[in-house]
Amino acid sequence: MGTLLKTMMALGLVVTTTQVLAHGDVAPQPVDTAALPDLDDEWPEENPYRDADGEVYAKAIEIGASGYNQNCARCHGLEVVSGGLAPDLRYLSADWEGDEWYVERFVNGYSQNGVTKMPAFGELLGGKAAWAIRSYVETRPDDGALDEFADRLGEIRDDLDKKAQAVEDGSDMADFETELASLREELDEIAKQVPSGSGAEMADSPASRAVAMLDGSPESLTKATETLTVGLSAAE
Ligand code: HEC
Repeated sequence: MGTLLKTMMALGLVVTTTQVLAHGDVAPQPVDTAALPDLDDEWPEENPYRDADGEVYAKAIEIGASGYNQNCARCHGLEVVSGGLAPDLRYLSADWEGDEWYVERFVNGYSQNGVTKMPAFGELLGGKAAWAIRSYVETRPDDGALDEFADRLGEIRDDLDKKAQAVEDGSDMADFETELASLREELDEIAKQVPSGSGAEMADSPASRAVAMLDGSPESLTKATETLTVGLSAAE
């Protein structure tokens, strides 16, 4: 190897291939959308999975979260909170107008003076992945959306943790089911009040996730406790 090249490498001046590709040109990562219903029309006017109480919406959000993290987060930010590199997608309105613009960018990407600023994803990922990611993006909670509920959610978390412990120890749990039902109801009430950034009717928050997993089984108590712990620390 020539001395010049060695020196340049030592100084970190040789840009490796991965670095060159690290931005606009990374190949889209496939998204497994098998669990979602097929679409007659891949690019309808509005998000076909948008349905505030639906199981399909919940599934779309879950699949969309992983699709987003693999394909969009590096530019649009983790949890869809933009670091300034690309627009903050949380505020794209959850209606046909927001959807139209979403599809336009998703399908075509964006180039400026021949430079790809955002790759086109439409053909490679398809409509199901697009709308799953859209469902995830539009249900992000607004900035500070958890603030007013954080104290109470923390208490509920502690309570669930104690119950999980009691189940494990085989303690007496006379009122277990009633108490759990009322915690679940309260979590559900909170989940419904957490506002999304996009105006979508529901926000995918630690509260809504905890409700969805709380089926009363010991594992579900532990999982809901963890979900609230992680969600609350991220919101701080
Ligand atoms: C390589 C960086 C990059 C990646 C990866 C990327 N984007 Fe973008 N995106 C941008 C940039 C830059 C813009 C701003 C383009 C413009 O000026 O209109 C943008 C704009 C958008 C817009 C329009 C937002 C608005 O408010 O105007 C949407 C919607 C969007 N991107 C969705 C996505 C989705 C969904 C993904 C993942 C599937 C994704 N982007 C991946 C860089 C990226």
